[in-house]
Amino acid sequence: MSSIFQTKTVDELLGVHGAAGSGMKRTLTTFDLVMLGIGAVIGAGIFSSIGTAAVGEVAPDGTVIRYGAGPALTLSFVLLGAVCALSGLCYAELTAMIPVSGSAYTYAYATLGELVAWIIGWDLILEYAVGNVAVAIAWSGYFASFLRFFGIEIPFWLCHSYRDVAFSYPEHMDKLPIVFGHHIAINVPAIAIVGLITWLLVIGVKESAQVNNVMVVLKLSVLALFIGVGFFYIKPENWVPFAPNGWRGVMNGAAIVFFAYIGFDAISTAAEEAKDPQRSMPRGILWSLAICTIIYVIVGAVATGIVPYAQLKGSDPLARAFELAGIGWGQVIISFGAIVSMSAVLLVFQYGQPRIFYSMSRDGLLPPFFRQLHPKYQTPHITTIVTGLLVALGSTILDDDETYDLTNIGTLFAFLIVCLGVLALRLKDPQRHRPFRVPFVWVVAPLGAAGCLYTMYYLPTAAWERFGIWLLIGTALYFAYGRRHSNLSAERDRANPAP
Ligand code: ALA
Repeated sequence: MSSIFQTKTVDELLGVHGAAGSGMKRTLTTFDLVMLGIGAVIGAGIFSSIGTAAVGEVAPDGTVIRYGAGPALTLSFVLLGAVCALSGLCYAELTAMIPVSGSAYTYAYATLGELVAWIIGWDLILEYAVGNVAVAIAWSGYFASFLRFFGIEIPFWLCHSYRDVAFSYPEHMDKLPIVFGHHIAINVPAIAIVGLITWLLVIGVKESAQVNNVMVVLKLSVLALFIGVGFFYIKPENWVPFAPNGWRGVMNGAAIVFFAYIGFDAISTAAEEAKDPQRSMPRGILWSLAICTIIYVIVGAVATGIVPYAQLKGSDPLARAFELAGIGWGQVIISFGAIVSMSAVLLVFQYGQPRIFYSMSRDGLLPPFFRQLHPKYQTPHITTIVTGLLVALGSTILDDDETYDLTNIGTLFAFLIVCLGVLALRLKDPQRHRPFRVPFVWVVAPLGAAGCLYTMYYLPTAAWERFGIWLLIGTALYFAYGRRHSNLSAERDRANPAP
């Protein structure tokens, strides 16, 4: 049994994949890292999920799935900013100390053992691949909104997923064509963008730091436009009542809009390419988080100030707010900005997923074909294509809100493990040099872990059930494959042969 709790030592991690061994160039500065963070963070969360967060969600049978935060959405953002800052500090200590790629998966291997590491790797599929399903659905919503401005209307059944119609627009169910006695819906724009991103990644297009910087400037400009123009359309009476569903609404809203913060942890995956990572990683994480929190609070206040919050429902709430306020030219710019922003997020996450599989396969926890590279393009093409197919399928079947929930619960769990991991390593390896130390770690890390758990608590029951099933499947796979093929076990067996 002890093998499932075996941990890699920090020296093992640094020795194998560290600066000397990885061969990657250290070129990214703190500024690049902040830009990388903002590039991965600003996307569907702020452009789309805030609709459901503000309004709430009711099942077709009338059961309340979650209460809306209303204008108190701003408070949800502030609270989440605090939870993410606490977890971000913990990420910062681990990334500065173990600057190798693999993010939470790698840290779990060093702190809490192989089984937990495997589970985190499995769990990160929720963050990366399932998260991209939600982004693709939101992308499709904004794409349809963009075309609508030019008088082109995509038929409803060709730009929505089936469950999205069933849950969010049951009144449109009878607009869906019937094939073999079943209503059908196909999210064509979502499938098309995922197909395009997959193809780009297979042939080896990697978003360079420069391209990312341009994207970030565009994202920030579009949100600045939303704030700057929207400000003049604010009617303060829309902010009353501030919290129509009280604390429960604020936290239910926080639990879904947490999606908007996901991605700052992706900075840690660049640890092998950062200059002076011991200083730049913590700074990159905390600065990008601070900037995004401020922007989100202001965007939330403006969106709920322009129109009564109940009108923000839908996958394109910021464009809708402008449309309802009669700012048509603004609507089209916002839609265009959202499409570009979310394409960048899709690229970052679809780039990340095969690389996490790669790390796990390198450790022997997944079969060798997960690290197979294309003979010509040198990209992990098989896992990239499989990920693309799954994301495209998901985006035409699943509902965006349930996808946000599943991504959030999985990512909050990974954050929680990272908070606990910092404490575990302080106990296990107290003497090791820590270039960045979490201040008051025995307060910050437990508070971060508690904050994650508390936010998870406010996710709908269905998300917990699905998460539980996901973890059970993951654990079964570990025992069926990973445990028996782990390189670490093999190495240790060689070093200490049985008598
Ligand atoms: N935070 C990223 C987004 O909102 C995942 O799209």
